[in-house]
Amino acid sequence: MSIKIGIVGAGGMARYHVPGFRAAGAEVVALADPVPEARAKAAAAYGVAETYAGLPEMLAARPELDAVSILTPNKFHLPLALAALGAGKHVFCEKPPALNAADAAAMAAAAKAAGRRLQFNFNNRARPESVAMMGYIRSGEVGRINSAQAVWCRRYGVPGFGGWFTDKSVSGGGPVIDLLHMLDLVLYFMGYPEPEWVLAQTFSDFIDNHDFRGPWGIPDVPGGKIDVEAACHGFVRFKTGQVVMVRSSWAEMTEREIVQASFQGTKAGGLVQRLFARDGIDATSTDRCELYTVEHGRHVDRRIQVPQDESMGRLASAGNFVRVLEGKEEPLNTPDQAVKLMRIVDALYASSAQGRPVQLA
Ligand SMILES: NC(=O)c1ccc[n+]([C@@H]2O[C@H](COP(=O)([O-])OP(=O)(O)OC[C@H]3O[C@@H](n4cnc5c(N)ncnc54)[C@H](O)[C@@H]3O)[C@@H](O)[C@H]2O)c1
Repeated sequence: MSIKIGIVGAGGMARYHVPGFRAAGAEVVALADPVPEARAKAAAAYGVAETYAGLPEMLAARPELDAVSILTPNKFHLPLALAALGAGKHVFCEKPPALNAADAAAMAAAAKAAGRRLQFNFNNRARPESVAMMGYIRSGEVGRINSAQAVWCRRYGVPGFGGWFTDKSVSGGGPVIDLLHMLDLVLYFMGYPEPEWVLAQTFSDFIDNHDFRGPWGIPDVPGGKIDVEAACHGFVRFKTGQVVMVRSSWAEMTEREIVQASFQGTKAGGLVQRLFARDGIDATSTDRCELYTVEHGRHVDRRIQVPQDESMGRLASAGNFVRVLEGKEEPLNTPDQAVKLMRIVDALYASSAQGRPVQLA
């Protein structure tokens, strides 16, 4: 019997969730979205026959669903996950986990109480580059990672002006929370250490400047709120003595879009990178996976060859969720890690607002 999944939110990310689940052998039974045009368009595009106006209607009509996949604006992740877990469904939820750490913790607690899986779409962990790198780290070839740099910087990548992305009450914030993938990836490489303190400064220049619009055609909402940051520069120290520099932007005077997790270990350093020729267009990007070592008295750059994956692990990440439910794979991430990540995100914002380091432990 194949795993039966219902999709909640028929927007941009459906183009990865639906084929990703299907490629792993799951059945996408139905999708729910309150906007009739959105659900009709997605139903036609992805060949999903049943549509509903919301999660409650979908759960009532299809009680046999095993799992629900949540790909709505960030504010709705918490209530939808609580409703799905409460109905006994496993949950795959888009990143960021929630608007803040308290909400993520409530989701983690609900999953534990229900005895159901809760996984988040930290798809960059499922990239071929990250899978290969994790193989080297687990084998002991890297040693202890002392320091890492998490960078996702766009030069011109504001996802529309006045829509949900730029409204902090719906999104939770700008690039700090939206582009949290590289911070998650370096923490994953480092073994998710316990954060001790966080220092950061955000900047809002260019957040309402249309010269910095991203290329995805996300419509503007005239009169909509624009109250999120455009860029952030931060530093995290962990109780272990490990440190992370973190940088993210939607709009900043930087060279071009760069997505990069680099680290320095006691035996080797490493880099997982996606470099864009045109901001925001995955098809123009080049991926790199490298290790820096000393071998036989010589400094060596090892360029690790992996299959090209334009989807940036998004299809593989959805597939991992299906295989976890089938008992064939370990989950690529845990709710506890999501809560820890969101504590750091909260602290990045708090440090910037308070103008001083924020103590976490
Ligand atoms: N992992 C990634 O690489 C990646 C990339 C982009 C976006 N995302 C995340 O995916 C999520 C969705 O982003 P998107 O770009 O697809 O957004 P989108 O705006 O394109 O689509 C969101 C859809 O959700 C629907 N919706 C809103 N409230 C709902 C509800 N209560 N129930 C059901 N549907 C509801 C909207 O009508 C809309 O059709 C966000 O959390 C975003 O951060 C992840």
